[in-house]
Amino acid sequence: MTAAARALRQKASASTTDPALAEFEADVIAGFRKPQKALSPKYLYDEAGSILFEEITDTPEYYPTRTEMSILRERAKEIAALIPEGAAIVEFGSGSSKKARILLQAVGPLSAYVSVDISAEMLVEEAKTLRRDFPGLNVVPVVADFTQGFELPREAADAPVRVGFFPGSTIGNFEPHAAAAFLRNAADILGDGALMIVGADLVKPAGILNAAYNDNQGVTARFNLNLLTRINRELGGNFDPSAFEHHAFFNRERSRIEMHLASLKKQKVRIAGETFDFRMGETIHTECSYKYSIESLAALARGVGWAPVKAWTDRQGLFSIQAFRFDAGTGVRQKNAQ
Ligand code: SAH
Ligand code: AVI
Repeated sequence: MTAAARALRQKASASTTDPALAEFEADVIAGFRKPQKALSPKYLYDEAGSILFEEITDTPEYYPTRTEMSILRERAKEIAALIPEGAAIVEFGSGSSKKARILLQAVGPLSAYVSVDISAEMLVEEAKTLRRDFPGLNVVPVVADFTQGFELPREAADAPVRVGFFPGSTIGNFEPHAAAAFLRNAADILGDGALMIVGADLVKPAGILNAAYNDNQGVTARFNLNLLTRINRELGGNFDPSAFEHHAFFNRERSRIEMHLASLKKQKVRIAGETFDFRMGETIHTECSYKYSIESLAALARGVGWAPVKAWTDRQGLFSIQAFRFDAGTGVRQKNAQ
């Protein structure tokens, strides 16, 4: 047996014992069999992908991170005033936790800061540095896929109230119906009286959006192409990443950035024992990044029982932060009770 075949066999057996790997394999195969090949953006975040995302946030074109951080710094006191003493903050998709740090500096004593992320390496490292920088804070990292149910750690479950923190416009990476499902699920996780602080990128001229997802240094392209390297490594694929190209553009009709990987030639790729044909120019759709208005996000949240409390933007109206409170008397809880 060749070394390559041995490696493939090892991968195949790993995917039968590791549920996360088995899910990755099943999603790749199902997604690549579709007429428009597609994969969930959650797979962009392996260890290298998480580091590349952090690099994107430092590019001059990618305005969302620094804009959201400036709103947070400016409004930290107002936001902190909504968070009662003893609450637990639960951050969904915490990444480097750099936005949480701004909140943590402004709030009173907490029961816990729970950082939830699918990308284990960065999560564990950031938890260590947070414990060092906030010695009195109970930092509880949870490796989980927030699109699926997960157990809240006891420290957060026992807190008098829980506050969800969902910055970065990660909500925009869901299809709108999935964003609503996420918020509904978050209400079940966080419980009655919960607060949710959501950061969302706003609709704006296409030029600014297209530049943000096509930075000059090519960091976003490397972030996108890393998906192929991940498939090769974890699923024994034989992608040649240099035979694919990063494409990102604003689809105004659907109010979303679409990120694709386009095949530069007609080619065949083998993944987990299956062969996939690519026409020249055919793409894998790797991410959507929906752009909202304050009103459209508020309407989506309201529909699943989250009542808008307050909204903040920067002076140029590039980015928004909105606070919502879950009202058990409206929306989903009522529907579920029937
Ligand atoms: N909150 C940070 C990071 C945003 S990047 C910020 O605002 O800068 C998106 C983060 O969500 C990444 O850290 C990624 O690993 C995480 N993520 C994406 N999909 C996820 C999922 N399904 N479950 C858990 N974490 C997810
Ligand atoms: C994490 N997420 C909100 C980013 C976004 O803008 O949609 C991910 C990203 N994709 C390309 N650049 C940044």
